[in-house]
Amino acid sequence: MATRDLSTLPKRDVYRILSSLVIPRPIAWVATVDGAGRVNLAPFSSFMGIFGPPMLAMTLGRRRDGSLKDTHRNLRERGEAVVHIADRPLLEALHASGEEVAPEVSEAASLGLATTPSLRVAPPRLVAAPVALECRLNRELDLGPTSTLVLLDVLVAHAADRIYDEALDCADASRWQPVARLASVAGPNYGVLGETLRLGESKLP
Ligand SMILES: Cc1cc2nc3c(=O)[nH]c(=O)nc-3n(C[C@H](O)[C@H](O)[C@H](O)COP(=O)(O)O)c2cc1C
Repeated sequence: MATRDLSTLPKRDVYRILSSLVIPRPIAWVATVDGAGRVNLAPFSSFMGIFGPPMLAMTLGRRRDGSLKDTHRNLRERGEAVVHIADRPLLEALHASGEEVAPEVSEAASLGLATTPSLRVAPPRLVAAPVALECRLNRELDLGPTSTLVLLDVLVAHAADRIYDEALDCADASRWQPVARLASVAGPNYGVLGETLRLGESKLP
């Protein structure tokens, strides 16, 4: 058993170890707009769904110079986002959108990703993404000088027809390949679903 007391380790080591243990992590691929209406796109894998109430949680760090990331600034200014879940064909674009670029650069446009207007929020959604969740900022929680937990209310959920089971009225995991983040060793590593299992009949409503 490899045992590490995280309280004694430098931040970089803590991140490497913990991010290799809490896997697979879903990735929020977040579209926001700035004051001039420019679309920003960036991935965040410190991310989870909270299903009652319908919310999403993600943690935003800081840019290398200590300033707010574009996503964070846009969320503060406009209070809205579209969180996409990418599938395997979009992985390279998702990864590329994590590069730190000048705020005026729209990753959606530079990656050639078409967008379409959302129903309830200003940021548009990506046409190619199989899942898009229109969200409004609920609150921020400061986790220290370089980390902020952001809670989003989910207002509208979109799922592509190709992944949706109309009879069950939910998406079918066997019809798509959502990507997940694994350890960040020698660069970020990603995974897709392998075997899926159903154990008995669901007793849940
Ligand atoms: C797969 C992946 C996951 C990431 N997860 C996070 C995260 O959870 N929190 C964070 O602050 N940055 C995360 N990043 C880094 C941001 O995507 C990166 O800082 C990006 O430049 C932010 O863009 P923005 O300034 O346009 O918001 C991740 C990057 C990748 C490629």
